[in-house]
Amino acid sequence: MKGILLAGGKSSRLYPITTAFSKQLLPVYDKPMIYYPLSVLMLAGITEILIIATPADLPLFEKLLGNGERLGISIKYTAQTAPRGIAEAFIIGEDFIGSDSVCLVLGDNLFWGQGFSTVLKKIAKINNGAAVFAYPVNNPNKFGVIELDENSNAVSIEEKPQVPKSKYAVPGLYVYDNSVVEIAKNLVPSGRNELEITDVNKEYLKRGLLKVFKLGRGMAWLDSGTPLGLLQASNFVETIQSRQGLYVACLEEIAWRNGFISDEQLRATSVEINNSDYSDYIKSLLD
Ligand code: DAU
Repeated sequence: MKGILLAGGKSSRLYPITTAFSKQLLPVYDKPMIYYPLSVLMLAGITEILIIATPADLPLFEKLLGNGERLGISIKYTAQTAPRGIAEAFIIGEDFIGSDSVCLVLGDNLFWGQGFSTVLKKIAKINNGAAVFAYPVNNPNKFGVIELDENSNAVSIEEKPQVPKSKYAVPGLYVYDNSVVEIAKNLVPSGRNELEITDVNKEYLKRGLLKVFKLGRGMAWLDSGTPLGLLQASNFVETIQSRQGLYVACLEEIAWRNGFISDEQLRATSVEINNSDYSDYIKSLLD
């Protein structure tokens, strides 16, 4: 399975912080925002990743993450020249996806919770149909909203409905088989002139191929796309890390625990980025 991380968009909800560069480079406590969704793809065991961002921001992401070698993965980069919608990722990424299935994660989404890695490894094996998550929120009208029957099967899915049919938002993490490329190509732009990811999910629902994984109250899903969301995400990460002494989304740790890099490579990285709490944490893993 390939992974796509979508980190473009206008980020107008974070103006003026995002005037000069992408929100996905802003800090969420002690790491750039993009570390968190990237950690999700890595936890799923995905090692071939495409980052899509605006032409202006792409060089900054490349400077931050390089070709992924340091993490034992491959990272490629492609520009989205205008924010034409989340589903455009599959058209831009067509060659990268090739004949594979694909997992898409949005650059401003943060997931954390016990057992999540196990769920991720499970969804990464899907090669027929689509899988989305459902997460209860108190403001569903701000998200894609999924209505479920008593067996947790999808009944309907709508993008930011004024009157939501359920309290279940659809987080920015999706798995699709290879037909997503064709589906995306046949989408019609929505009223806000975007190719909507919700329309992709509706098509899978229509075909009877949309699986839903409910995320329970033991999971945290945070969207750091607004000033309050950004602050709450930072506070959340700080609280967990200070309490446990374990890092959220330390990419080198995930790479090492997944066997993408060796002890020696981890040690070399800790020396290279010496003199920060982050490098001290990496060193402590080896002790
Ligand atoms: O966060 C989950 C929600 O994300 C879902 O529940 C919604 O169904 C989905 O439409 C999306 O809603 P948002 O309003 O939060 O999407 P936003 O425009 O903020 O974009 C989400 C991410 O995708 C953000 O990191 C920017 C990036 N993006 C977005 C668009 C529209 C792009 O890179 N290119 C784009 O064209």
